[in-house]
Parts: sequence; structure tokens; C-alpha cells
Amino acid sequence: MAKHLTERREEFQRALRSWYHQHARKLPWRESPSLYKTVVSEFMLQQTQVKTVLPYFARWLAALPDFATLAAAPEATVLKLWEGLGYYSRVRNLHRLAREIAARAAPPTTSREWQELPGVGPYTAAAITSISFAAPAACVDGNVVRILARLTADATAYRDAATAAKAFAPLAHALLPPQGSGDHNQAMMELGATVCFRHNPLCLTCPVRPFCRAQTSGQPEDFPQLAARAMERRRVTRLWCARPDALLCHRTPASARRLANLHELPSTDQIGLAEEKSQRGPLLAQKRRGITRFQITESIHHLPVSALPRKLPPDLFWVEWDQLAVITFSGPHRRWVEELLVKHGCLKEGLPPPAQQRGVE
Ligand code: ADE
Repeated sequence: MAKHLTERREEFQRALRSWYHQHARKLPWRESPSLYKTVVSEFMLQQTQVKTVLPYFARWLAALPDFATLAAAPEATVLKLWEGLGYYSRVRNLHRLAREIAARAAPPTTSREWQELPGVGPYTAAAITSISFAAPAACVDGNVVRILARLTADATAYRDAATAAKAFAPLAHALLPPQGSGDHNQAMMELGATVCFRHNPLCLTCPVRPFCRAQTSGQPEDFPQLAARAMERRRVTRLWCARPDALLCHRTPASARRLANLHELPSTDQIGLAEEKSQRGPLLAQKRRGITRFQITESIHHLPVSALPRKLPPDLFWVEWDQLAVITFSGPHRRWVEELLVKHGCLKEGLPPPAQQRGVE
């Protein structure tokens, strides 16, 4: 199935490499690269797009320029710098990883060793070790699967993305050049991100078009064949409960497995109110978001202070208006709070952007 590729692998590698050297986006972790920049960028890029990561990466590097500074930083500083990027287990793992690296005489150099560190799976290990140590490890994620499935016009119906990634790993590995594995991996990522789009791929300008069986078929979008992921719908009611001096927020306890120490607009459950009671106040906003396999609709209702239970549950706190800039919100909650503050005139302007907030400098 892939013979036309593996037999011409050197030609393929050359075409990809020369395109990459001419067309690669100038990304801050690619300019004067270091192991630290590579590690931070790869953690941020797990489940997040490049354009979202860019401002976070700049702020992070300015505040925490190396493994030793990150290892010594308090958790609150690290969380604050990640605020809004989501999937917070990544930042906790990155913090733990920095402590492990800072405690060693030298960092490990193989993909296998890196996979023993917190938060590092096969993809991240391959990216880090190929870019930083020229290790012969191939990155295989959804983008790379799409490219390889199209190059080979592979019509296999895969159950899910992980199964497809496993199936394509040997081909990805066979296409690695003996030298420059880091650039090769980044070129594959770049091709997936800027040319071989899921919809409307730019086949006419693709540097590896002569090797691609799917574009010959005229239906590149037919590949890969992945079963649609079953999404589960969820509804959450959240409450905007404000005093003249403060907003009611929920903070997940430090011992929790997920979202520890992060703040949110409280949900009905967290306040301990019945659903019907919490929906009596006017609907202020409705938000939709996807998290892993959940499609969540969150309705934010106004709740007068007089409707609160007499004794507040222990994880609820009144946060004074000027302290809202200091605490760390989970996911999109800061954006929602800012929007509601502006809309309801509690403050005339939104909160300052994260870089200017106290606790980050
Ligand atoms: N996605 C994951 N790693 C990346 C990298 N190094 N450059 C661009 N996109 C990426």
C-alpha cells in the first residue's frame, strides 16, 4: 500500500524538507530553539492551536525563562500563566516535569525515557527528542494520520483517532530521514496545519503532490476514514450572584483531581440549589463549548443574594471586584465574567489582560 512512498522515501523527504525551509511559519519556539522552549511549546500545543498558543508562550517565556525558574515557581503563578488555555492537567504535569529535569544532572535524550516523565505521551516524546536531540522518533497525531492516509489513499475504516495513529506509526517511522528528524516532523505538522486541511486541502500547491494517491483519485477529503466520535450533550446552569463589593465564585479544592484551585461561576449543584429555583432569575448569557466528547451548553442566570442558602457550601467564596484580576479562572470563565461585567455595568471596563494582572510579573 505504501510501497510507492517507501521506495522513493529520499525524494519524498527532500521535497518536504525544501518546502518546509521555504514556507515554514516563523514560530517563536523555532527561532533560536532550546530544549525548554520545545518542551513548553509542545505541552501548550497538545489540544490547542498555534494561534491561541502564541501570546501564552510569549508571556510564559518572559516570566519563566528556564527549567530552574519554572521548577521553583509557586503553583499559583504557573496556573495563572496558563489561565484560559484549558486542559489544566497539562500545566500541572509541565510543572512536575520541570522539577524532575531541574533535579537531574542532564535531561534524558530518548523518546522512551521522556515517556516516563509526567504528561509526555508518544507524540510529545517524539516531538521533543527529534527536535532537541535528533532522535529517530516519528510524530503521529491527527494531522500526520490525515497526510499519510491521503498519500496512500488508505480506505480502512478506523474506529477512532488513536487506532489510526497506531496503524500509521510504522509508515511514519519508515519515512523519517536518518538526519534532521526534528525538521521532518515539524514539516509534517506544518503540512497538516497549512496545506493538507481536513476540508478543501490545497493540493495544487502541495509539495508532496506527486506522491499522493488521494489527490489522483480526486477525492482527498475521503481520507482518512474515521468513525464519527459520539458526542454527549450536557446542560449546566451557572449563577451570577453579585454583591456591591464582590462576586460569588466556586473554587475547586486543592486536593481535587481536576481543576484544583481554579475558580468558576458556581453551578446550581455547587451552590446546593434545586435546578428550578436557580433558573428563576433572568438568563444573562448562554454559552456552548466542546470538551473532549462532551458538548456542553451552559446557561448563566442571575441569582439575587437573598435566594442563596443561609449557609454557603465550603468551596464558595465572595471575591472582591479588584481581586477578580488576581485569581485564576478555569477555561472560558474569565471571558464570561468580563463580558457580564461590561454588559451589566458592574465595572465600566473589562478586567485588564492577563499579562498586566498582578501575580504574573
Ligand atoms: N504542533 C505540535 N507541535 C508543533 C510544532 N512544533 N510546531 C507547530 N505545530 C505543532
